[in-house]
Amino acid sequence: MPDLKPVENEQEITRDRLAELLNEDLSREYQAIIAYVVYSQVLKGAAYMNIADQLEIHAKQELDHALIISRQIDYLGKMPVVTPKPVKTSEDPKEMLRFDLDNENETIRNYRLRVRQCEQLCEYAMAEQIRQILVAEQDHQIDLATALGVDVPNLSDSKKDSSTKKK
Ligand SMILES: [Fe+2]
Ligand SMILES: [Fe+2]
Repeated sequence: MPDLKPVENEQEITRDRLAELLNEDLSREYQAIIAYVVYSQVLKGAAYMNIADQLEIHAKQELDHALIISRQIDYLGKMPVVTPKPVKTSEDPKEMLRFDLDNENETIRNYRLRVRQCEQLCEYAMAEQIRQILVAEQDHQIDLATALGVDVPNLSDSKKDSSTKKK
């Protein structure tokens, strides 16, 4: 039986803390926009044509997410941040896709937690918006894992990123 540890901060989540966490999510969305804008244009080679097109679609979806998350932060009475998390670059297409996959995994882990935190505060509409973002993030994760020829990481039972094991 997996041990059912309480989720981090689940007991003491407040609206202020939720706004702070959403601002971290927003920084991750900015990071994703930048990464997908650049990677979609620099990925070269016949093997990557299909995924490059998909990354261009991801870039636009990440912008939609940033707008939704900003609206939630404003609704909570806080100011949305303006700084992205750092974006890694590489000349190696596989490495680029791996960075994207790692970031999507991190994003999914956070949004799963965020849904539960919203519900704890009875912010069901906000939880619903984040659920819809999660659907898109999981599609991104599948696109990237497929392009890399790896299994879609199982994030359900651990905070550790199963996709970052040594190559
Ligand atoms: Fe996103
Ligand atoms: Fe994404």
